[in-house]
Amino acid sequence: MERLDKFLCDAGAGTRSQMKQILKSGRVTVDGIVERDGSRKIDPAVHRISLDDTELRGRCMLVAMLNKPAGFVTATQDRQERTVMELLPKELLAQDVKPVGRLDKATEGLLLFTNDGDLLHRLISPRKEVPKVYYARHEGTATGEDVEAFAAGLTLGDGTKCLPAVLEPVGTGESLVTVCEGKYHQVRRMMAARNMPVTYLERQKEGPLSLGELPRGQVRLLTAEEVEMLQSYMAK
Ligand code: URA
Repeated sequence: MERLDKFLCDAGAGTRSQMKQILKSGRVTVDGIVERDGSRKIDPAVHRISLDDTELRGRCMLVAMLNKPAGFVTATQDRQERTVMELLPKELLAQDVKPVGRLDKATEGLLLFTNDGDLLHRLISPRKEVPKVYYARHEGTATGEDVEAFAAGLTLGDGTKCLPAVLEPVGTGESLVTVCEGKYHQVRRMMAARNMPVTYLERQKEGPLSLGELPRGQVRLLTAEEVEMLQSYMAK
């Protein structure tokens, strides 16, 4: 159940400030009966809501995944740089989706977008500690001591303390890094703190979602199963 005025706003019937007037003028009906009270609770799956005799369908929650290429900044607009928004089709832009967290300009890989403010905030909340897995190419080779230092929680050069993280060497100068927070340049700074400057970084996983076979530069909507999986993961 949700408030009628919120449903109307989300469905694009008008702005929050216009909603009082729209309701007062008797243009909104619930199951054919004029409703002027915006605080009335409705269930969009049960009630038929109309504005000027046109039935409204609630805005559905959209979540999309981009395989971000290097060279784009994670921002909705920027005066100088190309932004990740330029990689989205206009149908998604029309749904007012926003990037979930950020990847550096040089970082590639999994970047989520959603039009659902609640989901966005839960995904980036440090309290939720959603694990993110990065593939890093770097100078040097990770040792057992580096693995232990990551597990204990690193302190960066400027004194910033990091939560415990997982460092998994996968080859010479190649590692997987799992972090549950999103500090500025986090993985690059953590690796630098252990004398392994990163030369290439790709996010491969976020919570229960993986990049899979999505080609670089391409975007796709999550399937209903993936959205459900994400929501139940976040509800834990
Ligand atoms: N850590 C970084 O250093 N950069 C990113 O883009 C993401 C995580």
